[in-house]
Amino acid sequence: MRVLLVGNGAREHAMGEALAKGSKVYAVMKARNPGIMGLATGYAVGNILDPELVLKKAREWDVDCCVVGPEAPLGTGVTDRLEEEGIPCASPQKAAARIELDKSYCRSLMKKHGCRGQVAYEKFDDAAKAAEFIDVYGKPVAVKPLGLTGGKGVKVMSGLPGQLKDAEEAKAYAKEVIESGIGGANEVVIEEKLEGEEFTIQAFVDDESVIGMPAVQDHKFAYDGDKGPFTGGMGSYSTGKLLPFMGEGDYNAAIAILEDIVAALKKEGTPYKGAIYGQFMLTAGGPKVVEINARFGDPEAMNVLPILKTSYSEICAAINEGELKSMDIAFEPSSTVCKYVVPKGYPTKPESGKKISIVGKPKSRLYYASVDKRKGRLYTSSSRALAFVGIGKTIGEAEAIAAESLSLVKGPVSYRKDIGTRELIEKRIRHMEEVRNSMQ
Ligand code: GLY
Repeated sequence: MRVLLVGNGAREHAMGEALAKGSKVYAVMKARNPGIMGLATGYAVGNILDPELVLKKAREWDVDCCVVGPEAPLGTGVTDRLEEEGIPCASPQKAAARIELDKSYCRSLMKKHGCRGQVAYEKFDDAAKAAEFIDVYGKPVAVKPLGLTGGKGVKVMSGLPGQLKDAEEAKAYAKEVIESGIGGANEVVIEEKLEGEEFTIQAFVDDESVIGMPAVQDHKFAYDGDKGPFTGGMGSYSTGKLLPFMGEGDYNAAIAILEDIVAALKKEGTPYKGAIYGQFMLTAGGPKVVEINARFGDPEAMNVLPILKTSYSEICAAINEGELKSMDIAFEPSSTVCKYVVPKGYPTKPESGKKISIVGKPKSRLYYASVDKRKGRLYTSSSRALAFVGIGKTIGEAEAIAAESLSLVKGPVSYRKDIGTRELIEKRIRHMEEVRNSMQ
């Protein structure tokens, strides 16, 4: 099979690696990802948002199927255009991807179809009305730009540094979102702040089935101890199925929510296919939807794809044939810990264009994100640079492998040391116990 991959981050490097096990991979990237360049039979660098360019390359390479890594090309209609021309995509069309592209659509769809896992929310394009709602609601809220912000536009009334201290700050941020058009729209969603532990479940979806992958926990804050500003994700861990603070019932409840949402999209006449990403808060009342994304997560893709035993390209083919239910999709029963190396100062003042090097051979998997490779040397950009994924029998083993790899990186970089450590995981377990106890 010949598969076209669109995108150029570490997530797409992991997707390309999984696809290359059974297929020839071709890539359209907006920047030269050294990892994808190394595994692809052919690649082009250009505007990945341009459906005509992607179509031209798909035809030139005579691909059988396409998968899209990031959400933005879904929003510009890349998958719609390819499918119009008979090239199937194991990623959703624009109308179904709206579940991610428009935060308030996700909430209203869930409400209309009575999906499980809903949270209280309102949408505003008027700062005064948003402020009035925050006052009347009287409880802590999350303020979310309506459009895409790469996970960095959401602010929560948590009192943590970089977040919202109180209702006054929440009102001021809602005003800023509306007036400055953060996320590309002059609208804001105000939601109840959920108490609990966040987790991600990704699933393969076709017309009939939702097949869940192992649960993963991402780490959004830039610095150790969940401090600092939000990022696209600094790293993540998985034990191969559940997480240490959740039970089988919580996992099944999250899958049931994804099934409700997929069924709702189908009822709307915009069926979903490809990988779906559910970000949930495990509250005392079970999982609630934080957001739904129309793609794999980054870094979460790197926790699941390296341990996927079934051929990813066969899964893509089955998605397009509506045959997922006949597949026995399996993952290695391994733990994974992913740790991102980012330029020093990321995300607020990243030192870009700086030389970095890896001294020695990492024992973990290495996925390239936003780095330039020139004359065999690596240079940072303003975004996340390298992701190391340790794989082991336990989280401790996987963490030690990833941590050892981090120590091999030289140059002006930083990373979170605490992701996947026993101390942080115990803190998560204690927190979840406190949340559950507070409801008794
Ligand atoms: N890890 C967050 C995301 O992929 O949206």
